Amino acid sequence: MSCDEQKLDKLKALHLILLGAPGSGKGTQAGYLKNNWQLLHISTGDILRAEVRADSELGREAKAYMESGELVPDDLIIRMMEERLKSIGDANGYILDGFPRTVAQAEALDNMLARIVHKLDCVVNLEVADTELIRRLTGRRVCSSCGAVFHVDTMQPKVAGICDNCGDKLIQRKDDQLDAIINRLEVYKAQTMPLIEYYQARKMLVTIDGTIGVPQVAESIRQAVSGGL
Ligand code: AP5
Repeated sequence: MSCDEQKLDKLKALHLILLGAPGSGKGTQAGYLKNNWQLLHISTGDILRAEVRADSELGREAKAYMESGELVPDDLIIRMMEERLKSIGDANGYILDGFPRTVAQAEALDNMLARIVHKLDCVVNLEVADTELIRRLTGRRVCSSCGAVFHVDTMQPKVAGICDNCGDKLIQRKDDQLDAIINRLEVYKAQTMPLIEYYQARKMLVTIDGTIGVPQVAESIRQAVSGGL
């Protein structure tokens, strides 16, 4: 096996966290890396939105928190993620997008990973200024069926209002209204930013400029995580 093939095999087994403020590009990057490295993309936001659509008990509990930009209580999220991670085989690498989001969730994740014997390889922190986050989120449109992400100015679909991937309608998320965005940014600073120090102390954190183009950010992530392979 060539050196590049060996590296690709290692990338396929990565366990990676994408950390960053709302709108920093976690979902966009996860989609990109998932396709290139065949990693599973585990997004707590996507899982919760699917629960809300299904009108499940969890979805009913989570809905009001999500629409106002508050975090869903830790106990619900931790239980949900424990089930999800347990169901993944050893050979599969994954990208955690939106989890953990509090120190309590990070500690719970450490315990879960120890129990299922998965080692965390890297935590990538995407850094973007607030003004750009607000611009991105107010202009974001998502596919109502497949969840693909677009932007009204900078990532336009080929046909306005229609998803390039599946042809379904693009919508604006309720929590992408300005009031909810401002709350989400405050919640991020108070409850999620402490994770930067948490993972810095464990020497796992790599901070990347999230304002360069999507492929360039992906390349920075690739360089950061493959350095140690
Ligand atoms: P979630 O869906 O995780 O929302 P989020 O963290 O606020 O992140 P976003 O999805 O808004 O942004 P993103 O970083 O993925 O950016 P994107 O790639 O789309 O969570 C929603 C809610 O669920 C939470 O508020 C909470 O209530 C609940 N929740 C979820 N997880 C939870 C947890 N662990 N605990 C408790 N509650 C939880 O990009 C944004 C825009 O920017 C797009 O338009 C995109 O096209 C554009 N863009 C992306 N990259 C670039 C780039 N490089 N250059 C220019 N534009 C770009």
